[in-house]
Amino acid sequence: MKEKNVVTKIQVYSYTELTDDDKKLVDLAKEATNASYAPYSHFHVGAALRLENGVMIKGANQENAAFPAGLCAERSACFNAGSNYPDVPIETIAVIAVQNGEVVEDPCSPCGVCRQALLEFETRAGKPMQVLLAGRDTIYRLQSVKDLLPLSFTEF
Ligand code: THU
Repeated sequence: MKEKNVVTKIQVYSYTELTDDDKKLVDLAKEATNASYAPYSHFHVGAALRLENGVMIKGANQENAAFPAGLCAERSACFNAGSNYPDVPIETIAVIAVQNGEVVEDPCSPCGVCRQALLEFETRAGKPMQVLLAGRDTIYRLQSVKDLLPLSFTEF
């Protein structure tokens, strides 16, 4: 028997250490939480994308009484980008969550389904997508979606 360690690289930033463009994206993700529809979980998630052409796109979680019909913020944003800018790579995604009117303390990390969906956007673009997971003061920066989903399923 052999053991294999899978290494994931995460850089930990404070908001003030981010570039101006990345600060803007985190601010936009926070703004996106205002459009979250979360009457069941009361957990308001916002995502913002910066495309390679400079366009920024917001997404927020949209829940439904038929629970599986709801959609996470990350996929709301990415599917919007895929529908309107199918050939433009996503350079960066920022994610943040608000609960009880406050940004949650720990960085909000995408669910497994969103990781798989994000990975395919990255693979399709053929270049890494930077991921910014924002908490109240701490931002996790990952240089690629591959760092969010090691040992991923892919048929490519
Ligand atoms: N949610 C997201 O929008 N993104 C995530 O990464 C995790 C979870 C949403 C789904 C649901 O509307 C609520 O947060 C609680 O799970």
